[in-house]
Amino acid sequence: MKPFIYITRKLPEAVVAPLKSEFDVEMWEKEDAQVPRDILLEKAEKASALLTMLSDKVDRELLQNASYLKVVANLAVGFDNIDLEAAKEKGVTITNTPDVLTETTADLTFALLMATSRRVVEADRYIKEGKWKSWSPLLLAGTDIHHKTMGIVGMGSIGEAVARRAKGFNMEVLYHNRSRKPEAEETLGVRYVSFDDILAQSDFVVVLAPLNTETQGMFQEDQFRKMKNTAIFINAARGAIVNEAALLQALKRGDIAGAGLDVFETEPISEDHPLLQLDQVVALPHIGSSSKDTRLDMMTLCVENIQAVLKGDNPKTAVK
Ligand code: DGY
Repeated sequence: MKPFIYITRKLPEAVVAPLKSEFDVEMWEKEDAQVPRDILLEKAEKASALLTMLSDKVDRELLQNASYLKVVANLAVGFDNIDLEAAKEKGVTITNTPDVLTETTADLTFALLMATSRRVVEADRYIKEGKWKSWSPLLLAGTDIHHKTMGIVGMGSIGEAVARRAKGFNMEVLYHNRSRKPEAEETLGVRYVSFDDILAQSDFVVVLAPLNTETQGMFQEDQFRKMKNTAIFINAARGAIVNEAALLQALKRGDIAGAGLDVFETEPISEDHPLLQLDQVVALPHIGSSSKDTRLDMMTLCVENIQAVLKGDNPKTAVK
């Protein structure tokens, strides 16, 4: 019997063809809706490999009953949806998709920063709603980006790619990270500072840290109060790093000037969420790595990782 592979979202046939030629492959039929939990659990019980989305919970319950499972290839660089401890205990290899999405995610992060500070979304709405009656000196006046200070929280490869873009805008770049990055300091001219200094000194606070026990809830009322009241907060990492209620209050009180959010505590965020009612918030549906090329590269990497593990080889990008 061929090993069974379950893919939790409908992916292009061309991408999964190499798996289909060797294995018994089944895909969840929908492109835009998550596989129901009971189906995921049922499929996992007989699967040798799972190709999962960041919205699928690969927890202890799932792993405990997945007796044949050898590998979970997660279509994301983040893997906070996976219980690594339980996977290790069961000897299941976890892989992710670093590197291939770095530049694309940095592009989106910068686009979000620019859209928020220069009020691009508001301006688009303004014109389409027929509100533009005359040119006027302070019409939709935003905040400058060039020559300002960016504070990056989480200096992985995406952080470095964002810093490179910021340098092109003549920005000063500060960063805070679990460990210092001497090479980035030298090549990019970024400066390591404490978390509190990031908050106090940055015009743009950009969150690019992974979600884990250290970063969960890192931004609370206190942190927003320490920021400049002209500051713009950008989160392209994970929603749970931020206490959304505290962010909402900080925006309403004017502790900070705006927020660009690609990620939320609960995804999808409901359309009547109070954060979405604020003009100074630009919200995106978690599309950091979503360019056609990059998403295809991520899918291909997942397929290659599954092939490698099922053949007894080392996958390209195992989570350590
Ligand atoms: C990831 O890969 O973790 C990103 O959040 C996807 O956009």
